[in-house]
Amino acid sequence: MNLDDLNKVAKAMVAPGKGILAADESTGTIGKRFDAIKTENTEDNRRDYRELMFRTTEAMKNNISGVILYDETIWQKAKDGTPLVDIIKKAGALPGIKVDEGIKPLPNSPGEVITIGLDKLADRLPKYYEQGARFAKWRAVIDVGPGIPSYDCIHANAHALARYAALCQAAQIVPIVEPEVLMDGNHDMDACQKVTTWILKETFQELFYAKVALEGIVLKPNMIVPGKGSKTRATVEEVAQRTVDVLKNCVPGAVPGIAFLSGGQTDEEATANLDAMNKIGGLPWALTFSYGRALQAAPQKAWGGKSENVAAAQRAFMHRAKMNGLAALGQWKADLEKKAA
Ligand code: 13P
Repeated sequence: MNLDDLNKVAKAMVAPGKGILAADESTGTIGKRFDAIKTENTEDNRRDYRELMFRTTEAMKNNISGVILYDETIWQKAKDGTPLVDIIKKAGALPGIKVDEGIKPLPNSPGEVITIGLDKLADRLPKYYEQGARFAKWRAVIDVGPGIPSYDCIHANAHALARYAALCQAAQIVPIVEPEVLMDGNHDMDACQKVTTWILKETFQELFYAKVALEGIVLKPNMIVPGKGSKTRATVEEVAQRTVDVLKNCVPGAVPGIAFLSGGQTDEEATANLDAMNKIGGLPWALTFSYGRALQAAPQKAWGGKSENVAAAQRAFMHRAKMNGLAALGQWKADLEKKAA
């Protein structure tokens, strides 16, 4: 492992004003997104849609540091035969790869899941590196509900994250460590804060046991928000302050950067919350975005599966990338959204 190089990549992933595009939806998940825009889930449509984002040159150059790809996409070629990874690299962004293989029920723990995909990971990583991937992603999923999460769920998922991270670093790939506490459910903000603290504490303990170098990772957590079904709502300032408090309690300063998931927040909420955290300032790590839905919902809607809408979709993508780039600097303003509408 060359830690200097891993650290350089990790820093590039969270460079000022830039964040990560999570375009690594599995074939099933992108199918759900395509259903919403009445578009058939074919290999060509998946390629055309992702190609349009990767060819949005200005957004990719100015605001996107890296793109998380799904296995299908990392091997795919654009319509003109150029490998999609080459388009991403030419735009100045780093290709990355989702390496987990999804979730399965956790035995003896009703309602809880464990992320799988460790078995052949040591063999798969060098192939992804050769194909251009310089970072990877593994997502652990923690559900909050009556009696859950259990310690078994927290521990098993943190352990898997640490084993994945150690394997990535041995293959000279920066691991995005993603323990996601879901927004689904009726729980309030206190419950989200408690469970997020727990999974983060456990994850960093397991990373230590697995001898993972924190200078060569990027953390991808959820923000501290009430569950979608909760009767209580939170202001942007509350979300920002609570999230920063939890991170300060749990994340060592050696970690170069934290790139949030959007997790079901609206586009503007995800931007405003990130911006408010950066306005608090004085933090040891860079705080940026690694959004899937909050970057893609607008371009998907504008595209609607039609080639004549590519330019409109690219404009929508560019706008969200720019807004989130500003939020990563703490320089976003709500009226910038209205001007673009
Ligand atoms: P969302 O921003 O849509 O939550 O997706 C980010 C991601 O990569 C989840 O693993």
